[in-house]
Amino acid sequence: MALCRRSPVASYFLGLTSGAALSLLAFNFFSSELMYFAKPNDVYYGSRALLTSHGRVEHVREENEELMREVSSRVRVLCWIMTSHKNTYKKAIHVNATWAPRCNKHIFFSADPKSGLPTVNLNVTEGRRHLWAKTKRAFKYLYEHELHNFDWFYKADDDTYALVENLRFMLMGHSPDAPLSFGCKFKPFVKSGYMSGGAGYVLSRESLRRFVEEALPNKTKCKGSDSAFAEDVEMGKCLRNVGVEPADSRDYQGRHRMLPLAPTVHMNANGTLPKWLMSYMFYPYRKGSQCCSNYVVSFHYINTGFMYTLDYFIYKLSLFGSHHEHFQKYGAVNSTIFERATAFARSYSQVGNS
Ligand SMILES: *[C@@H]1O[C@H](CO)[C@@H](O)[C@H](O)[C@H]1NC(C)=O
Ligand SMILES: *[C@@H]1O[C@H](CO)[C@@H](O)[C@H](O)[C@H]1NC(C)=O
Ligand SMILES: *[C@@H]1O[C@H](CO)[C@@H](O)[C@H](O)[C@H]1NC(C)=O
Ligand SMILES: *[C@@H]1O[C@H](CO)[C@@H](O)[C@H](O)[C@H]1NC(C)=O
Ligand SMILES: *[C@@H]1O[C@H](CO)[C@@H](O)[C@H](O)[C@H]1NC(C)=O
Repeated sequence: MALCRRSPVASYFLGLTSGAALSLLAFNFFSSELMYFAKPNDVYYGSRALLTSHGRVEHVREENEELMREVSSRVRVLCWIMTSHKNTYKKAIHVNATWAPRCNKHIFFSADPKSGLPTVNLNVTEGRRHLWAKTKRAFKYLYEHELHNFDWFYKADDDTYALVENLRFMLMGHSPDAPLSFGCKFKPFVKSGYMSGGAGYVLSRESLRRFVEEALPNKTKCKGSDSAFAEDVEMGKCLRNVGVEPADSRDYQGRHRMLPLAPTVHMNANGTLPKWLMSYMFYPYRKGSQCCSNYVVSFHYINTGFMYTLDYFIYKLSLFGSHHEHFQKYGAVNSTIFERATAFARSYSQVGNS
């Protein structure tokens, strides 16, 4: 189950720093901070500068760190996670322990208040039949309390896994003042398509405003009753009726970024997909790894263990040689890169670590 050879964050930086970063292994670092072993986070936020082949010092890491801070402060995403008292300890706490805190703010609607999770009680009856009421109240709450504090509002389920950095990357080319929504677009039930609830969907600030100010009060625009056949379908109808465009979330190669199933299902080229999938997907869908963008934003049906597995694969797992491990400080001044790497290998191990 080799999900990612290199973390998307790493790919992002490698893309940005292009040749300089890729050929790092061959060059030296100038740094007083090369004091720890290679882990993606350390690698990208650790050292200060590098010497290029032309002898020029580049402050690549610092630039990347600064860029990520700027993106995070300019593309402000509030994530809300649909959950219940019943799912608080089975699901919600694991969402809170993995991806959700990477959003600028996250709120569970609604977890057990005793759990200590960031949650708001919407006073909606629990259960599937009331999901539509809960969705409406959640967005109304966000409109009343958070509209001007954030640019985008992402709704996810408690078994969704989202890569928030890639979510911001997808959104940063668009204005939150445009009436847009992003998600995995399905084609039945709503003419222009609607966004799958499981992959999660994002409303721009303007879309949230229209939904609450224009759609909700008008029963001919938006279903008034508490229960509905499916909350995501109803949401799609309401948004269409107030001119919110269901945007195309795919990348430039037509690969999907917001996925309605688990990665194990999407990646298995010869496995059987659920029958409904092909007839639901609004855009062409290729089986196997061609399904999915390198900058994927979300997957669905992620159980507890899988949530931590993905987090580990994406944010921690290192592949020797693909990150610029900090072994420059190892070995003698006149040693070759191979000798330094060997010294690093020894000191990273229990055996031979002197
Ligand atoms: C939720 O996540 C935040 C941020 O990582 C953490 O500080 C907090 O303790 C977590 N809450 C619970 C109840 O696990
Ligand atoms: C839910 O009801 C309680 C008690 O009536 C009230 O204090 C609270 O503000 C309500 N929550 C929302 C989001 O309306
Ligand atoms: C509700 O929406 C319908 C259809 O768009 C429109 O004809 C009607 O005037 C609206 N009613 C109100 C009170 O805004
Ligand atoms: C899928 O099946 C084809 C034809 O039998 C085979 O060539 C291919 O290697 C298989 N791919 C996977 C990922 O199993
Ligand atoms: C590196 O320098 C040391 C001492 O200056 C010397 O003993 C050693 O042979 C040199 N190693 C190589 C590979 O040139």
